[in-house]
Amino acid sequence: MSKDRDGREFDRKLEELGVRIKDEDTRKVRGEVFDEVTLLALYRLVHKKKLSAVGGSLSTGKEANVFLGERNEKTVAIKIYRMRTANFKAMADYILGDPRFASVRRTRKDIVFTWTRKEFANLKRAYEAGVPVPEPYAFDRNILIMEFLGEDEVPAPQIRYVDLPDPEATYREVIGCIKTLYQEARLVHGDLSEFNILWMDRPYIIDMGQAVTREHPNAGTFLIRDIRNVNRFFSSLCEVEDEDMLMDEVTGGAIRPLREKKDW
Ligand SMILES: Nc1ncnc2c1ncn2[C@@H]1O[C@H](COP(=O)(O)OP(=O)(O)OP(=O)(O)O)[C@@H](O)[C@H]1O
Ligand SMILES: [Mg+2]
Repeated sequence: MSKDRDGREFDRKLEELGVRIKDEDTRKVRGEVFDEVTLLALYRLVHKKKLSAVGGSLSTGKEANVFLGERNEKTVAIKIYRMRTANFKAMADYILGDPRFASVRRTRKDIVFTWTRKEFANLKRAYEAGVPVPEPYAFDRNILIMEFLGEDEVPAPQIRYVDLPDPEATYREVIGCIKTLYQEARLVHGDLSEFNILWMDRPYIIDMGQAVTREHPNAGTFLIRDIRNVNRFFSSLCEVEDEDMLMDEVTGGAIRPLREKKDW
């Protein structure tokens, strides 16, 4: 695909695969995102009827692109981790400390595929525990398909852009999410901030590739960082609670001894 300058070959291949691209802008980013591996994964998802079309681009992040998609005539979100530009060394650090994925091989491909599988598994655990996250539908290699948060193809905004009707209630709700995630799903998000919370009449937590289980050696560090980020964002909008008290509330005091450590 990298030699595919004018895109005609790409279009032909996609057509052969039965993948419909609905949006002109999406065609423009194809060179970077839709390499051979990704095309094959798209093909498999279409074949398994998990997806019927790829739509417009929602976001281009550090590691991944998010697109609108279609499945059974319903809008879905498609997150595609870029094979070439994903920071797989950083990903490897998160993956190898997690007992669920400790035996994974360290090649770029394996790490990126495992990262995608990990985000799917994390979303599933969170969803089943009742945390408001997009429902994960399917994954293949570096592609994750999940519930679209938004309406009529307009995505729900990140919370930092929203004039919240009741910031204090929303703050409590986000703390509640961290707590349910910790106590019921037994996960720590690890990158929680106003960038990874969407607003659709209530806060929704997204972007869970990096989330780790409670046993991960960095779980405590990630948890306090998540709490600090949330406090920092909400402190200009409402009163926030002391972070030590929140740590206790979230963990039930379970990892209190770690709080003595200076690097928190
Ligand atoms: N399920 C979804 N429904 C609607 N919009 C979404 C959904 N998932 C992601 N988005 C949009 O795409 C943006 C990026 O998603 P996300 O935070 O998961 O990826 P990212 O930050 O690019 O990931 P990474 O940091 O791992 O590269 C979100 O801020 C949001 O605007
Ligand atoms: Mg994000």
